Amino acid sequence: GKVAVLAGGTSAEREVSLRSGAAVTEGLQAAGVDAHWVDPASTDVLQLRALGYERVFIALHGRGGEDGHMQALLEALGLPYTGSGVMACALAMDKARTKYLWRGMGLPTAASAVLHAATWQQVDLTQLLAQLGGKVMVKPSQEGSSVGMAQANNAEELQHALTEALHYDSEILVEQWLHGAEYTVAVVDGEALPAIEVRTPHAFYDYAAKYQDNTTEYICPAPVSAELEQQLRTLALEAFAAVGGRGWGRVDIKQDQHGELQLLEVNMAPGMTTKSLVPMAAKQQGMSFSQLVVRILDGAQV
Ligand code: DAL
Ligand code: MG
Repeated sequence: GKVAVLAGGTSAEREVSLRSGAAVTEGLQAAGVDAHWVDPASTDVLQLRALGYERVFIALHGRGGEDGHMQALLEALGLPYTGSGVMACALAMDKARTKYLWRGMGLPTAASAVLHAATWQQVDLTQLLAQLGGKVMVKPSQEGSSVGMAQANNAEELQHALTEALHYDSEILVEQWLHGAEYTVAVVDGEALPAIEVRTPHAFYDYAAKYQDNTTEYICPAPVSAELEQQLRTLALEAFAAVGGRGWGRVDIKQDQHGELQLLEVNMAPGMTTKSLVPMAAKQQGMSFSQLVVRILDGAQV
């Protein structure tokens, strides 16, 4: 039957989703699937069933597509869709609450504070910085692709970073900077794919490092011991299960200065451009892009 590839949308990650959507649609078509691109920004998704679609591949990133809203709508329509359900998507979109959950379960994640638009100006930023080790990452709680994120090394930079981040969300996560290597682990059908190490010459793995220049190094298999590879995969599976993940996703992890792994976040509709990380990990395991998207689609549920 007909498959809708939802891509585009209206979030800050629209441009990335356009690239994911193009690759996913092509990958499915190459495998003989009757896949059609549908952009919720210009198509009434309430009509998907009436338009003859029987399943949905969600290639939307960010709010409105990855945060449970679209998933709830598809539940109401009774259309099977790829990836996690409403609750897991809503939770994973919210980095602050995801970290509360992981901490509550004893899973490792860096020290952090959550500031709110209405009250952040009453916070002593110098003291907050000192509590978090003097160097922090500032993240809108509900964003993706590093949109609105900045590093801060002093109170002035922190104030500036908060002002910027507040353009994207009213809740801001201020997280202790992690000095170690950055890894990402894809999860497909309850299995962790080979870890990828990400190395960027930028101050952090920002939007430009992700999509706009070619300075980022991706190393897969990651240059780590068999033991660390196993730790990364196990932690990713635990973190994904903790938020109630289903089908597929990608867990981002960093090492701290002691070499301990710390969970950053989980993405429920990770980037699927031809250069993205999940396809890279799949390829390392001998799975082509086309085979990967078919496998993800086969897991579609309602
Ligand atoms: N939010 C981007 C699309 C990712 O996680 O790959
Ligand atoms: Mg993300």
